[in-house]
Amino acid sequence: MRLRRRHIGTGIHMNCQGDYSGPMKVLVTGGSGLVGRAIQQVIKEGEAKKGEEWIFISSKDANLMNMEETRAMFQKHRPTHVIHLAAMVGGLFKNMKYNLDFWRNNIAINDNVLQAAHEVEVVKVVSCLSTCIFPDKTTYPIDETMIHNGPPHESNFGYSYAKRMIDVQNRAYFQQYGRSYTAVIPTNVFGPHDNFSIEDGHVLPGLIHKAYIAHKEEKPLVVWGSGTPRRQFIYSLDLARLFLWVLREYPEVEPIILSVGEEDEVSIREAADAVVQALGFKGEVVYDTSKADGQFKKTASNAKLRRYLPDFTFTPFRQALKETCDWFVANYDTARK
Ligand SMILES: NC(=O)c1ccc[n+]([C@@H]2O[C@H](COP(=O)([O-])OP(=O)(O)OC[C@H]3O[C@@H](n4cnc5c(N)ncnc54)[C@H](OP(=O)(O)O)[C@@H]3O)[C@@H](O)[C@H]2O)c1
Repeated sequence: MRLRRRHIGTGIHMNCQGDYSGPMKVLVTGGSGLVGRAIQQVIKEGEAKKGEEWIFISSKDANLMNMEETRAMFQKHRPTHVIHLAAMVGGLFKNMKYNLDFWRNNIAINDNVLQAAHEVEVVKVVSCLSTCIFPDKTTYPIDETMIHNGPPHESNFGYSYAKRMIDVQNRAYFQQYGRSYTAVIPTNVFGPHDNFSIEDGHVLPGLIHKAYIAHKEEKPLVVWGSGTPRRQFIYSLDLARLFLWVLREYPEVEPIILSVGEEDEVSIREAADAVVQALGFKGEVVYDTSKADGQFKKTASNAKLRRYLPDFTFTPFRQALKETCDWFVANYDTARK
């Protein structure tokens, strides 16, 4: 594969689609999760190109913390492209409890997947970071150049440092082997097939589940924290479409933030109001300020994304939330809780 490399500042820019022109065989790790299911859906709805093959794997197919199983999986499928989503994932409270597990498990998964991909000569890997890995003390909006500029929030340092190392590793695979391994940085993701666990899940699916129960039991909805922290949320189906664009066209090793604009950031209180409305909850909403708030905000800039894709349309937050709530209600018995 011939690579056109040019260095701008400290970053690594390249034409990483290289000369690969054959049909893609794409292996998606974490294919059974929130983001993986969304990619499955957009592929099913017609986003796949002629001749492409898509393989979605979960932990049942291989434990990616184990190098031999990971290697065997890559040898078996010999993909040309990889979307790497598999990770130990969780909300604030799970992160605070298990920083060591988040660090060790994710470091192992990422190292195994990237190395196994390299060994079978995968042309391109798109891995997944998160805006919650950025430095805690920072200027806003956050952009792609700031990932390593300071310690992350103490609540999730295990997950954050493990994710940051993907970026380090991608640069090293490029420098040493010319590999086109890159990463995206989504903000908070939500949608059908999320983990709706109240204890371990992210804020929005946790709120949806709590509001569902409060509605059924005619009790107040208790929101953890003050409701003042602010977040940008991205609908999993929008993220899935952006993943396909990154896989096919994004030419850099440097990561790219995938987010709605800064103006679309909402407070947890506004998010709770939207959930209440979507589920038709009529009861009282109380804020339990004895519970942690986490990072106050992590406002991310989507300027880089907008430079590449000025016309991409995000699903409006309330519409996406309504679709997610409807999915949760319709699939309550089988949803991850
Ligand atoms: N959710 C968010 O708000 C958010 C925000 C930013 C970035 N991200 C990133 O997006 C990616 C996908 O997140 P998600 O929300 O879709 O997560 P998720 O719903 O929790 O799914 C995690 C996926 O990883 C797989 N997995 C976990 N441990 C594994 C192991 N040891 N071996 C093989 N597979 C394993 C799971 O397989 P099983 O189903 O078999 O367990 C599942 O398919 C992650 O890299 C995450 O860090 C998520």
